[in-house]
Order: sequence, then structure tokens, then C-alpha cells
Amino acid sequence: MLIKRILTGIRPTGALHLGHYIGALKQWVPLQEEYECFFLIADVQALTTHIDKPELIEKAVREVMLDWIAVGLDPTRDNVNFVLQSRVTDLTELTTYFTMLVPFSDMEKNPTIKEERADLRSRPTAGFMIYPISQAADILLFVPYPFDEKNELLVPVGEDQVPHLEGTNKIARRFNNRYGKVFIECTPKVGEVGRLPGTDGQSKMSKSLGNVIMLKDGPEKVKGSVMKMFTDPEKVRKYDPGHPKDCPVYLYHKAFGDQDTIHSRAARCESGALGCVECKKDLIVSLNEFLGPIRKKRKQAEKAPLGKYLSEGTKKACEIGEKTMEEVRKVMHLDYPSVFTTEGDQVGK
Ligand code: TRP
Repeated sequence: MLIKRILTGIRPTGALHLGHYIGALKQWVPLQEEYECFFLIADVQALTTHIDKPELIEKAVREVMLDWIAVGLDPTRDNVNFVLQSRVTDLTELTTYFTMLVPFSDMEKNPTIKEERADLRSRPTAGFMIYPISQAADILLFVPYPFDEKNELLVPVGEDQVPHLEGTNKIARRFNNRYGKVFIECTPKVGEVGRLPGTDGQSKMSKSLGNVIMLKDGPEKVKGSVMKMFTDPEKVRKYDPGHPKDCPVYLYHKAFGDQDTIHSRAARCESGALGCVECKKDLIVSLNEFLGPIRKKRKQAEKAPLGKYLSEGTKKACEIGEKTMEEVRKVMHLDYPSVFTTEGDQVGK
């Protein structure tokens, strides 16, 4: 029987925001109907940028789980697993082997590393520079076994993650060429709206830039954030013609608003019939309609046995990982080296 599996993850550095939803979570929810799912809370990867804030990561593990459940991921289903990266120790071993297959210059050329490196407050650590390799291990540890090209390992992610998935498949190919077929290549899946801009119009929503709307924000907070939002700078007065495609308010309407009126909204903005204040008020209504059920589910999830979900999901991940690692060690001559197989060398004799 063919196996259809998902592996994807998020760094736990805080509660999640609308950018996470549009870039990633929105795609994940419906896939639960079809795939065996492993949703990874990448606490080790979080250390690459937050080595000085271990308490923050610890708290964020819980926040991430609450947000996941709030948007509709369901860890009570047999096929849905929440996994804590640091507790899948085979990942560390696989990462080490993979580091030998990647030229260091590939890390320096990786566009996502370049972008994130520019945002770092201190010099990048070795751990930071090679996190894409550890991410390749996150993904490939979950490869369906036994090897069959027709199996599927789907990785639904935001568009910024695509270079990492290309790197992952490069590693899979290199490994297979050298040692024989163990890994199928993963299939990236990126949502239609790849990236939601921040409320300030910056290209990326990020907590440290203070331009976010969190999934757990209450109605008043959402109102405040939207009223302060950046709009088309050329539309100073209501009747000035606007440029919706350059306006984050319009992009948010596209992501969360009524799609039946989206074209007329753009036309009214362009003609000057629709002012920014009215447009923002509409957005507040849409966002609160969208977030209402999420807030409610999050409240309920606070009473759920989160620790149990995480330990059960992690256990399943470890079982799958062990199978992959047995295969990896075997083909890499690391299982129990054949030099010991002569009679006299047998252990216990
Ligand atoms: N790098 C991802 C992020 O920053 C998180 C992540 C860790 C991930 N391991 C993964 C994503 C494996 C997909 C697959 O959000």
C-alpha cells in the first residue's frame, strides 16, 4: 500500500500570527483528511536564533500547540501527530551524517539564510549556518519505508522555505547516489498567497518588527492594529485614486475578506469612491469574523491534555525515525561493521 505522509514544522518562538496562518497553517488543515501528518515543533531550530531565551521557547511550545488546535489541527486523530523536535534524538544523528554531504558554500548561498542572517543581532553561529541541513533531516527522517518512488512525502510550507526543500532533495539525491536508494524526494507545497505583509507594509510579518496581528488577539487589539495600518501613500484624501495592489489593507482583504466583493473593492479604491478609513473598518469586521471561532477553540484547547498529545505524537515519530535510521546505518556501514563478522569476533563468545 502506498504511503502519503506530511512532515512540516514551525519554530516555537512565540504565539502564531496571521502570516503563519496564510503562509502555512491554512494549507495544513485540509491535508489532515488525506495524509498521515507529522507537525513538528522545531525547538532545536528555535535555538539557532534564541539560544539566550530557553524559557521563551519552552512557553512557545505550548502557544504553538494552542494555535494549531485553534485553527483546526486535530491531534486526537490517529493520523495527526504533534512532534517535539528535541525529543526525536535520531534527528541529531541524521543531521550529522548529512553535514558531510553538503559543501559549506551551499549554506552561504542559500537565499533564506542570507535574508535571516541579515536580521540577526549577533554573528551567526555554526548551528545557525547549518540549520537547513538539520531541516533536511527533519524531513527525510520521515521518508516512507520501504523505498518506493510512488510514496509521497509532502512538505506544506511558506514560500521562504522553498530553498530549504530544494536543498533537502539535493541531499536525498546525493545520499542515494552514494549509498543506494533510501530517500524519496519531498514534494513542496506552497499556498496561493505565499506571504502576508506586515501591518506596516514591510514584506514580512514578524513579532520583532511589531507589525503583526496574532491569532489570539482580541477584537479591540485587532481594531487598533488595523486602524494604524499602512496604506497606499499616494492616497492621501479619500477621493484620491488608490493602488490596491500596493496596499497591505487590500492584501489582507484578499486573504481574509469577502471574495465576492473583492474586485469591486479594488475598483472603488482606484476610482476614489472608497476611502481608507471605511476600507479598514470593513477589514476589522472580516478579521474578527475570521478570528472569532479561532479564539473560541483556543480557549477550549487550554483545557486539553496537550502534554499527552505531544508525547504520543513524538513517540510515533521516534518509531518511524528508528526504521529510517536502521536503513541509513546499514547502507553507510555504521550498523555493526562487517569487520566483526568473523566467528572469533562475535560478541558474547
Ligand atoms: N524552518 C521552518 C520555519 O522557520 C521550521 C521547520 C523546521 C520546518 N523543520 C521543518 C518546516 C521541516 C518544514 C519542514 O518556519
